[in-house]
Amino acid sequence: MIIAVDGPAASGKGTIAKALARHYGLPHLDTGLLYRAVALTVQRMELDPAKEADAVAACDFDDALLADPALRTDEIGQLASIVSAHPLVRAALLHRQKRFARQPGGAVLDGRDIGTVIAPDADAKLFVKATPQIRAQRRHKELQGHGSTVSFDKVLTDIRGRDARDSGRSTAPLVMAGDAVLLDTSFLSIDASVQKAIALVEVRRVRAVSATEPQ
Ligand code: CDP
Repeated sequence: MIIAVDGPAASGKGTIAKALARHYGLPHLDTGLLYRAVALTVQRMELDPAKEADAVAACDFDDALLADPALRTDEIGQLASIVSAHPLVRAALLHRQKRFARQPGGAVLDGRDIGTVIAPDADAKLFVKATPQIRAQRRHKELQGHGSTVSFDKVLTDIRGRDARDSGRSTAPLVMAGDAVLLDTSFLSIDASVQKAIALVEVRRVRAVSATEPQ
């Protein structure tokens, strides 16, 4: 079973995708990490993230980089949304994601274009959202937990900027797939969001199983 989880920054999609992977015993790929790895490589090589050729040159990163905690900063998140708008960067990372999705037994992937581009044939597609204010509150708390003194207003402005870039780009923009189900986590706890996500996936799974059974 392939499960696609898409949504904007700090919507809860990563936590939900991880929990779904655990629940169904499937491997999980946080595809945002790939774009973050390109961004970090651009920064370390002192390249220009706005230049497509520079960003493409950073796509050949070592897999070990995916475990680097430096990927998790807000600055790298912003840079990732700049490099990810280049069509050639998306093309360079496409096969690796498709291969992961198609592995025997299935997989859970989360990102921005999983249900639309990477796995349009996914068995279950969730689009996770929450209001920008609530997403900024979550991200602000998370950053404070890591010792950051960044203001709430700056976090909210950054989230809005990233939303605009991710939704406005011409290649693989952040849009809900026509056959995805919406999960609004604005007023749900983590536990409640996960339970709801499992229930939504179950509906799709049971429907898929009964469609293959002889009548
Ligand atoms: O965790 P958070 O939602 O803040 O960000 P992320 O999922 O790590 O993604 C960082 C950036 O990578 C996003 O703002 C997108 O611009 C880009 N991205 C993308 O374009 N396509 C994906 N499938 C995943 C991430």
